[in-house]
Amino acid sequence: MTTILVTGGAGFIGSNFIHLLVKDRPDARIVNLDALTYAGNLENLKEVEGQANYTFVQGDVASPEDVARAFDAAGESGVNHVVHFAAESHVDRSIQGGLPFVTANVLGTQVVLDEARKRGVERFLHVSTDEVYGSLGPTGFFTEETPLDPSSPYSASKAGSDMLVQAAFKTHGFPTLITRCSNNYGPYQFPEKLIPLMIANAREDKPLPVYGDGMQIRDWLYVQDHCEAILTVLEKGAPGEVYNIGGHNEYPNIEIVKGILGHLEKSEDLIEYVTDRPGHDRRYAIDASKIERELGWKPRYTFEQALPRTLEWYLSQDEWLQRVRSGAYRDYYQLQYGT
Ligand code: NAD
Ligand code: DAU
Repeated sequence: MTTILVTGGAGFIGSNFIHLLVKDRPDARIVNLDALTYAGNLENLKEVEGQANYTFVQGDVASPEDVARAFDAAGESGVNHVVHFAAESHVDRSIQGGLPFVTANVLGTQVVLDEARKRGVERFLHVSTDEVYGSLGPTGFFTEETPLDPSSPYSASKAGSDMLVQAAFKTHGFPTLITRCSNNYGPYQFPEKLIPLMIANAREDKPLPVYGDGMQIRDWLYVQDHCEAILTVLEKGAPGEVYNIGGHNEYPNIEIVKGILGHLEKSEDLIEYVTDRPGHDRRYAIDASKIERELGWKPRYTFEQALPRTLEWYLSQDEWLQRVRSGAYRDYYQLQYGT
């Protein structure tokens, strides 16, 4: 039986990944280590809670004691694989203050790496981002060979963590894998990020803040496709390698915002152009041919298919959204675990 330690499993992508494991790898045992920062929401995992093969450990990846406790929770047979999602993830928050990003993303990654190596983990997958490559002009794509050139404290901290992971491979021969994915969207995304924020504001007839001219381009991937790619790399990737993940779905922000308003039958008068994000990357676009060619992964969904699904999910999950927006979701851990 394989035991997988997932860090950051109460967040957006981590919780989607745990749902995927439960469905597609029912024999795996899962330990979820999450600090439950503002971005961690155990309500994302309600259906998984109580299952015999799932254990939740509240703890900080930057604390060696907490990380050791999570490994101990796996019991005597230990942890086979680590999938490391835990991170501070929002660019705007990193502009307000970079320190929590360095602590969680840089220090936290080293702590998890050290403990994983000590415990003889067989495969360590570090979930990184295309933002480490910086910004593109109107043409071209990021490949795995594109030099790292981060723009924000967030992406700089992720680039730092990537280098520590690569150092563990080069120095210690520790079997690491790195994935770098483009912008995700789908269920359980915290409504500070573009798509869920715009859906939530539009529903309440609140202004939709578009940074600068709204012509920045992101390359969107449905979260389920990202999670399937991560599982593919975890099981089939070559140690020491980096794999880009993306689906060729480039759209300017303003088009997405207008699309959401159209779907919800709301007026474009809700759009409010606001001061641009400092250091705002203009364009991201991923060349994912390596993972397609070498590991046989391909995205299942186009943006045209999965954006409506995503909108429908948020519309059908009004309670989830309201509890996140009001902060009520933060009481759930205490009610559930009684601490
Ligand atoms: P998120 O902010 O929704 O979730 C992060 C999770 O990590 C939360 O549950 C939070 O409680 C936890 N966490 C934060 N600091 C922690 C700490 N010190 N110790 C333990 N847990 C901690 O983020 P997300 O969007 O799900 O992103 C997950 C990972 O994927 C991140 O590493 C991010 O860089 C990467 N990524 C995200 C995207 C995207 O579009 N969202 C794209 C590519 C890569
Ligand atoms: O590319 C992968 C990255 O995608 C991940 O590494 C990050 O964790 C994730 O947060 C995301 O980063 P972005 O900065 O691209 O995502 P965000 O949703 O914050 O913004 C998307 C675009 O929309 C960006 O160009 C900024 C713009 N934007 C965002 C918000 C929140 C607005 O115009 N208005 C807004 O209110």
